[in-house]
Amino acid sequence: MIGTDIDTAVRLLQEGQVVAIPTETVYGLAGNALNQEAVSTIFSVKQRPSFDPLIIHVGRVADIPYYIQDIPPVLRKLADAFMPGPLTLLLEKKLIIPDLVTAGSPRVAVRVPNHPVALDVLTKLNFPVAAPSANPFGYISPTTAQHVAQQLGEQIPYILDGGHCSVGVESTIVGIENDRPTVLRKGGLSVEAIEARIGPIAVREHSTSNPIAPGMLKSHYAPHVPVILGKPEDLLPTLPGKSVGVIRFREKTAGIPDRQQLILSARGDFREAAQRLFAGMRYLDQLALDVIIAELLPEENLGRAINDRLRRAAAG
Ligand code: TXA
Ligand code: MG
Repeated sequence: MIGTDIDTAVRLLQEGQVVAIPTETVYGLAGNALNQEAVSTIFSVKQRPSFDPLIIHVGRVADIPYYIQDIPPVLRKLADAFMPGPLTLLLEKKLIIPDLVTAGSPRVAVRVPNHPVALDVLTKLNFPVAAPSANPFGYISPTTAQHVAQQLGEQIPYILDGGHCSVGVESTIVGIENDRPTVLRKGGLSVEAIEARIGPIAVREHSTSNPIAPGMLKSHYAPHVPVILGKPEDLLPTLPGKSVGVIRFREKTAGIPDRQQLILSARGDFREAAQRLFAGMRYLDQLALDVIIAELLPEENLGRAINDRLRRAAAG
């Protein structure tokens, strides 16, 4: 059931149930991170392999120290600058965080979502909430309550509706690797914004099938329709007779019906493009196309996170 009652979501979470909550990035499938049964339910509803760890969400930056050992100064700077916001920090966990949440890792991923409804829920709870994106494992992340309902509606008691997600791609994950701050998943906080605060940061490119590398499963965010990357003008001649969808940053593509084209931002705005990406991919996915051509965006700003999602959609 979809609703807007914060107290219902809070009560269900306190009972150890799993509910969908809005965040500014994508909707999350939330449960009490300190309750093994709630965490197990998250994994089974999402059909997520237990080796892929979960992010915990808290309502205040000041709550983070309850769950982690200490924050290295450089990550502290990022927390001060960007939390609440689309930033997740990987930090040494305290014992209170179950190994199930971190898939056995000594580090836990922590974030403070910048969404009034999420913050309202989280500040009413006295435990952190584990929440992966509220989609079946490997599929496109949800950016509306309706997206969640379409796929997980039967399996969870409540979907808290907070409207369209304003960022639209998942949080940027940052940890310390080999003594250097490193972006482990490109996301809704741009590398440029991070570097403006702390100077140069390493960026791990995607694409290992080794899940020990966080959030980095190669095929992900994938529609059911196959996705190929390239320039539509080059690829279309190789696809005679096929029903083709196109994802592009700004331009229209000649010879493709308008309804089969996802133009992410005609005015070339990366924020708008990120906001529209996942809903647009879902829309194209239900048109019964043979194939979707996706053209990469400029490799800058949120274009980097968008390209990462497009590459992984095409890796399926
Ligand atoms: O924006 C977001 O981060 C959304 C919203 C709901 O907060 N959440 C999200 O969660 O994207 P999820 O589970 O779909 O992706 C989290 C990624 C996973 O791929 C996981 O591998 C990585 O974060 N991760 C979580 N905990 C980790 C840990 N302890 N060590 C390494 N990677 C971790
Ligand atoms: Mg996810």
